[in-house]
Amino acid sequence: MVKKNITLGEFIIKNQASFQYSSGELSRLLNGLRLAAKVVNHEVNKAGLVDIIGEAGDVNVQGEDQKKLDVLANEKFIQTLSKREIVCGIASEEEEDFISINSYDEKHQNKYIVLIDPLDGSSNIDVNVSVGTIFSIYRRVTPVGTPVTLEDFLQPGRDQVAAGYIIYGTSTMLVYTTGDGVQGFTLNPALGTFYLSHPNMEFPETGNIYSVNEGNYVHFPQGVKDYIKYCQKEEDDRPYTSRYIGSLVSDFHRNMIKGGIYMYPKSSVSTNGKLRLLYECNPMAFLAEQANGKASNGKDRILDLKPTELHERVPFFCGSRKMVEKAEEFMAAHN
Ligand code: AHG
Ligand code: MN
Ligand code: MN
Ligand code: MN
Repeated sequence: MVKKNITLGEFIIKNQASFQYSSGELSRLLNGLRLAAKVVNHEVNKAGLVDIIGEAGDVNVQGEDQKKLDVLANEKFIQTLSKREIVCGIASEEEEDFISINSYDEKHQNKYIVLIDPLDGSSNIDVNVSVGTIFSIYRRVTPVGTPVTLEDFLQPGRDQVAAGYIIYGTSTMLVYTTGDGVQGFTLNPALGTFYLSHPNMEFPETGNIYSVNEGNYVHFPQGVKDYIKYCQKEEDDRPYTSRYIGSLVSDFHRNMIKGGIYMYPKSSVSTNGKLRLLYECNPMAFLAEQANGKASNGKDRILDLKPTELHERVPFFCGSRKMVEKAEEFMAAHN
């Protein structure tokens, strides 16, 4: 049982010994993310006050208009992570190519690869709705002291050593796993300190919330349509409640606490859905499994997929185990 009332900094140090590769490096990396989270939190909180909301004018590699805070959050995380002698490569939703950090010569022993969605749910900023940051951490597979390559970034999700998110909501939380359960920390804004508030987070086995952008219903595969109708049917504990924020982090967080399923299926207009395997689905799938939940592409386990490109998209079904299994059953009926 994890002891409450401790800070994130204390928790990281205390649990260092249980990391798969028990060195102080991952701890320092997590501390770097903690710091960047506080900086970005500060910026997100003043979004309504200063002139940083609205489009930045650029279009990012995903073909989306980039918001100013996307750019800012991207910069802050990259800056913070690059300064520490731990990370050798970063890939971001907002960057076309991966970034190599001090990985060119033998004297640099940096081992960790970080993939980030610096600001998730960015369309919600202008309307004062919760947004987040998602991160995913691997050890490099190529030798230290040599330049990182694409291969270091295209590892299957099951090889993640840590993953987590920050949610900038009614309170700011940092939730993460190093493969030993999921721990949630809440920021005390007066002190600038994260405290362990949600030890050992777990998805209820089943729930009564389904989260999907139903505006896309006509474009969904028949199995998904049938599952949505099942959710709405008056029978047993149904109809379920529909809740969709449009920030994956926020929808996931609520479903983990209350029990529910999040879906971003493929459709006739987006053949692989919308969510990105490396920056969104893999880290959330790792958290989900560590929290007794489940994550799949409708058929296969997300964490077993072998990525083929940095910005690859994948259909995503994630949440309470029994609900994801039920959705898979409906989809299997139409194969
Ligand atoms: P991002 O803001 O990082 O581009 O991600 C947005 C994602 C995800 O957070 C959310 O669940 C989904 O896009 C919403 O998409 P729709 O507006 O198509 O429902
Ligand atoms: Mn985006
Ligand atoms: Mn996102
Ligand atoms: Mn984003």
